[in-house]
Amino acid sequence: MFSLIAAIGKNRELGKNGKLIFHLKDDMKFFRETTKSHKVVMGRKTWESLPGKLKNRENIVISRNPVPEADQSVNDLPDFINTHKDSGEEIFVIGGGMVYFEFLKYAKHLYLTEVNASDSTADTFFPDFDKTNYEKTLITKGTENGLNYSISKYTLK
Ligand SMILES: NC(=O)c1ccc[n+]([C@@H]2O[C@H](COP(=O)([O-])OP(=O)(O)OC[C@H]3O[C@@H](n4cnc5c(N)ncnc54)[C@H](OP(=O)(O)O)[C@@H]3O)[C@@H](O)[C@H]2O)c1
Repeated sequence: MFSLIAAIGKNRELGKNGKLIFHLKDDMKFFRETTKSHKVVMGRKTWESLPGKLKNRENIVISRNPVPEADQSVNDLPDFINTHKDSGEEIFVIGGGMVYFEFLKYAKHLYLTEVNASDSTADTFFPDFDKTNYEKTLITKGTENGLNYSISKYTLK
């Protein structure tokens, strides 16, 4: 079973120039706690944006080319999805835009940090999704560095 986890702006902004847009400590803490000890799946560009392997998680990287430093590198995405989509294990898809788009239709849960801010220079976006198809549970909300945010879990009805 797949879950997507992301921090997005008002227009679903995810990133620019290969980097994150929003840097919220609470979001990072939520990400760490939620994904800890799980498999995390990411695109090669997101992998390259990280300072290193995410600790205490199995790092799975999707690329057409082998990624030897990853715990697992996957080039056959349909095969990977078929193998895991019906398993009871929650596997977290951690970005970026291309990979969220490819996994969205297989995801049971979306954990979204929604930041009440926009960035017109963003170049990567979370895919558009129909919120009426999901049940939304608010996990927490707050303000950090003047940015209002809420963290919610959307579960496919
Ligand atoms: N706000 C957030 O929560 C969040 C989270 C994660 C990332 N981000 C941001 O998102 C941006 C990166 O996203 P992105 O969309 O540019 O890239 P991405 O999704 O991280 O990675 C794209 C790469 O993944 C591989 N890939 C994707 N689909 C594939 C398939 N079907 N088969 C084989 N390989 C496949 C390809 O790698 P190869 O080219 O090697 O074949 C492709 O170039 C960065 O700015 C990052 O900071 C934001």
